[in-house]
Amino acid sequence: MSERELLVLDAGTSSTRAIRYAPDGRVLGQCSRDIVQHYPGPGLVEHDAAEIWTKTLGCARQMVAEAGGPDRIAAIGITNQRETVVAWRRSTGEPLARAIVWQDRRTADRCRILREAGHEPQLQQRTGLRLDPYFSATKMGWLLANDAAVSSAGSDLALGTIETWLAWKLTGRQLTDASNASRTLLLDLEGKDWEPELLTLFGVPRAALGEVVGNAGNFGSTMPALFGAPIPLTALVGDQQSATIGQACLAPGQTKLTLGTGAFVLTNRGTARPQAAEGLLGTVLCELGGARQFALEGAIFVAGSLIKWLRDNLGIVRSAAETDALARSVPDNGGVAILPALSGLGAPYWKPDATAAITGLSFAATRAHVARAALETVSHQLVDLAAAFAAADCPWHDLRIDGGMAANDWLAQDIADMTGLAVGRPSDVETTARGAAILAAVGAGLYPDLALAAAAMTPSRDHFAPRDIGAERSTRLAAWRRLVDQA
Ligand code: G3P
Repeated sequence: MSERELLVLDAGTSSTRAIRYAPDGRVLGQCSRDIVQHYPGPGLVEHDAAEIWTKTLGCARQMVAEAGGPDRIAAIGITNQRETVVAWRRSTGEPLARAIVWQDRRTADRCRILREAGHEPQLQQRTGLRLDPYFSATKMGWLLANDAAVSSAGSDLALGTIETWLAWKLTGRQLTDASNASRTLLLDLEGKDWEPELLTLFGVPRAALGEVVGNAGNFGSTMPALFGAPIPLTALVGDQQSATIGQACLAPGQTKLTLGTGAFVLTNRGTARPQAAEGLLGTVLCELGGARQFALEGAIFVAGSLIKWLRDNLGIVRSAAETDALARSVPDNGGVAILPALSGLGAPYWKPDATAAITGLSFAATRAHVARAALETVSHQLVDLAAAFAAADCPWHDLRIDGGMAANDWLAQDIADMTGLAVGRPSDVETTARGAAILAAVGAGLYPDLALAAAAMTPSRDHFAPRDIGAERSTRLAAWRRLVDQA
């Protein structure tokens, strides 16, 4: 009988998945279900946490059955969209409110008030983050201040991010891992537990939060009724940190870019606590055996979600895959430029109130120009992020790309051309789940350390070398800068 498998639950923003891996990294099976996005008003983005749980469980059950039963699974690893906040009742395990998604901007005013009161420098210094509605703490504060069911739940109230919610439903333990906890504004970058002063600042009761743990280890077992027999849970990790590990960016300076709903660049910074850097975030990359590694992060809020919006709201592309052919069908963007601020602008601009714009339209403009301009927004933001990383003494040497949108060859080449960097793409672009599989394998003792697990479990890469595209580069960047300045 073959070796037992690893099962990863990857609860992302647009979809939730379960993927089976062999201990040598081969993908054995997968299941994916879309998550309904609720947009109750401008700047508001919500998820139904019960839907996230039932769809994740449904995918997991399908994978366990395909593997031949729970005994065939050595361990489960969870990876997740970060910052999104769930409030639930411990007594019933039922959500008390819609989950507030990381893209939600409802706490922009609260952040402004705290910034004007002078809190941002110390928060940046302690947590690596900034006062932006992106992070979890003001979302938790909003629920406690505005949602009657949450504020009246008392000691029955549980608050957490998505890995905490799933770990609770699977094992009955309220756990949050260091990589996810480092996205809340409630954890010092080197702290082992929630910071009492920060809890007070954001009005979050300690008792509502879970226990902060590392990224790999023995985190309990699934409740027997879920899969017919308990399965050990041995990894928890935020999706961007997971992708960094899945790309084997384990040495300082190594950089990955994940092109998902948003686009997130993380550069490994090793064991030294990252210093606050203009426009960028310091974050926990992972904690194993009590030792932390850190990363510097550039968070672009809108990437694949712009293509999805063009498809679902405007109907001008039929599928995300079609954008590759559309971009190639025209010689340039025809003067069309897009500011993709559908949920504000993230790094390195941090303009939470910015709204999106399409400019340069004329009768000559076609949907191909708009699709091409949409893809180009990723490269434009990366050029500015590369400058911010360089200014922080953390230059990129090359870029390892992954995520669904990385399958777009036109975009991969455009990123290389615009940044002037060699771009490497693994043969399997689902690096987020792979990182959690690597951590779960270490947590289950299948490999003695991360380096050996990553060496055994990561696939080969294709490469895109940068080309000289002449004046097109400066013309595009000039149009981009005008849009950002006007935002
Ligand atoms: O910080 C938000 C991030 O974790 C969301 O990731 O892959 O759903 O775009 P993704």
